Amino acid sequence: MSALFQPFQLKDITLRNRIAVPPMCQYSADDGLINDWHKVHLASLARGGAGLVIVEATAVSPEGRITPGCTGIWSNPLAQAYAPVVRMIKAAGAVPGIQLAHAGRKASANRPWEGDDHMANTDPRGWETMAPSAVAFGANLPKVPRAITLKDIAQLKEDYVKAAKRAREVGFEWLELHFAHGYLGQSFFSEHSNKRTDAYGGSFDNRCRFLLETLAAVREVWPEHLPLTARFGVIEYDGRDEQTLVESIELVKRLKAGGLDMLSVSIGFSTPEAKIPWGPAFLGPIAERVKREVEIPVSSAWGFGTPALAEQAVVSGQLDVVMVGRSHLENPHWAYAAAKELGEEQASWTLPAPYAHWLERY
Ligand SMILES: Cc1cc2nc3c(=O)[nH]c(=O)nc-3n(C[C@H](O)[C@H](O)[C@H](O)COP(=O)(O)O)c2cc1C
Repeated sequence: MSALFQPFQLKDITLRNRIAVPPMCQYSADDGLINDWHKVHLASLARGGAGLVIVEATAVSPEGRITPGCTGIWSNPLAQAYAPVVRMIKAAGAVPGIQLAHAGRKASANRPWEGDDHMANTDPRGWETMAPSAVAFGANLPKVPRAITLKDIAQLKEDYVKAAKRAREVGFEWLELHFAHGYLGQSFFSEHSNKRTDAYGGSFDNRCRFLLETLAAVREVWPEHLPLTARFGVIEYDGRDEQTLVESIELVKRLKAGGLDMLSVSIGFSTPEAKIPWGPAFLGPIAERVKREVEIPVSSAWGFGTPALAEQAVVSGQLDVVMVGRSHLENPHWAYAAAKELGEEQASWTLPAPYAHWLERY
C-alpha cells in the first residue's frame, strides 16, 4: 500500500488518505458571500478523492479580505452559505476544513487577473488597510496601512473567535488559522512589517504575542476533539533564513503548547525582496525540520503535485499530509489518478457504489 494512501488521524478526525487540497482563493464572492461556483469547485475536489478539502482564505472581517471577491465569515448568513458545501464535501468522503484569514496590509487589492495590485485610493471598491505598523509591503502593494491599536487587537481576536464558532456551527471539522503569506498574523511576527514598540512588537516574545493570543482565544471555542491547525511562513528567503527558522520553530513550539494540533509549513512572503528557490518539493526538508524539532504533525505545499513526489514526501517522513494545489485545479480527480499511477489497488477511500459497480464490472 502506498504511504500516500494510508489514512491519517488527528484528534477525532480521520482523513482517508494523506492528500489535502490547500486553501485556494477563487476571488469570486460578492460581499464575502459564496455562490454556486464555490460549491461546484469544492465539491468536485472532494469527489476527486482527497482526504481533506480546505476552503480558501475566508475573511473574519470585511477589511480582512484580500480582494473585493474574497469570501467572508463575519456574519451568520455568510457562514450559513457554507452549510451545503460542508455537506457536499462530506458526502464525497472528504473532511471539510476552512482557513480563517485577515489580509492585513495586503488587503484591498485587485483580483490576480485584474492586476494583483492595490486598488487606487480613489477606487470606491477599496478600503483602508491595517497592519501592526504603518509600513507598506511595497512593489505591487504600496498602500500604507493604518497601525493597529490595542482596541483593534482586542476586536481582531474577537473576530477570529466569532468566525471559528460560526465555522463549527455550519459543520466544519478542521480549522486552519492563516498566519502565513505576509497577511495579518505573519506580519505581527515578521520584523519586515512589525516595527511596534509596545507589547506586540520589538522582542521575539512580543512579535509572537498576537498569534499566541489569537490561537488561545480560538482554542477556547473550537472543540478539543477537532483539529486546530495553522499555516505559517517559517522562512522568508530574505538572507536571514537560519535566524528566522530558529525563531519560527520556537514560535511553533509555543503554539503547540497553546493547543495547536498541526502546522502547514509555508513561506513568509513578508518582503518583495525575497529570493525564493522555487522548485519541486523544495520546502520538504524545512517542513521535516519543523516536524522533528517541534514534534508536531506537518503538511506543506508548493510543488508536490506529482504522485511520485507526494508519495516520497510521506515515505521519507518529511510530511504527514501533502497539500496539492494547482494540480487539483488542473485535474480535480488528481487523487484518483495518483492512486492508479502509484499502483494502489485498495485505495483507502471507497468509490461510491453508483461508480464502483460500473468500474468493476467492465
Ligand atoms: C488560485 C490560488 C489561490 C490561493 N489561495 C490561497 C489561500 O486562500 N490561502 C493560502 O494559504 N494559500 C493560497 N494559495 C497557495 C496554495 O494554497 C498553495 O500553497 C500553492 O498553490 C502551492 O501549492 P501547489 O504547488 O501544489 O500549487 C493559493 C494558490 C492558488 C494557485
